[in-house]
Amino acid sequence: MRFSKTCKTLDDTKKLAQAFAQTVTEGCFVSLYGEIGAGKTAFVKLAADALEVKEKVTSPSFVILNEYHSGKIPVYHFDLYRLENEGVSTILDELREYSEGQQLTFVEWAEFSQDEIPFDHLKINVTYSDDDARIYEFEGVGEKSKKIVERLKNLLTE
Ligand SMILES: Nc1ncnc2c1ncn2[C@@H]1O[C@H](COP(=O)(O)OP(=O)(O)OP(=O)(O)O)[C@@H](O)[C@H]1O
Ligand SMILES: [Mg+2]
Repeated sequence: MRFSKTCKTLDDTKKLAQAFAQTVTEGCFVSLYGEIGAGKTAFVKLAADALEVKEKVTSPSFVILNEYHSGKIPVYHFDLYRLENEGVSTILDELREYSEGQQLTFVEWAEFSQDEIPFDHLKINVTYSDDDARIYEFEGVGEKSKKIVERLKNLLTE
């Protein structure tokens, strides 16, 4: 199950993140892909806003994990950039725990994980098109995430 959306401006990305927030109320594990400055953290911030997270959402590049508990569901935000090629496989079991239950977990730089993520997750690939335009591609891997992508697609193509 795949769905992709072109966002010509940051405001379009905000609308996409708002629709996304409506589809993940049961929780979801999201791995974000895309080059530096593509718009991974921007999407996490906008989704957290849509879930009414009160704290300021910042990039967790230096702490690996930020967590927010003031919104509708808990939001966890990992940035694995600093782990580079080693380390990711050693925290896969920990990451798996964040994929369970009613919580929303984002992982930036999931491509550092050499192996495929071995549990249900939703991939978001962000690419530049031009200027402020970005393409967000969603792919559900596993039953739960496939349903989320389907709901998102229905919500945005009505
Ligand atoms: N349509 C758009 N969608 C998302 N971000 C946009 C858009 N247009 C402009 N931007 C800007 O692009 C930048 C994206 O930066 P962001 O920190 O989200 O990138 P990133 O993918 O997390 O990079 P990194 O790999 O360094 O963490 C932000 O400054 C954001 O405001
Ligand atoms: Mg980032």
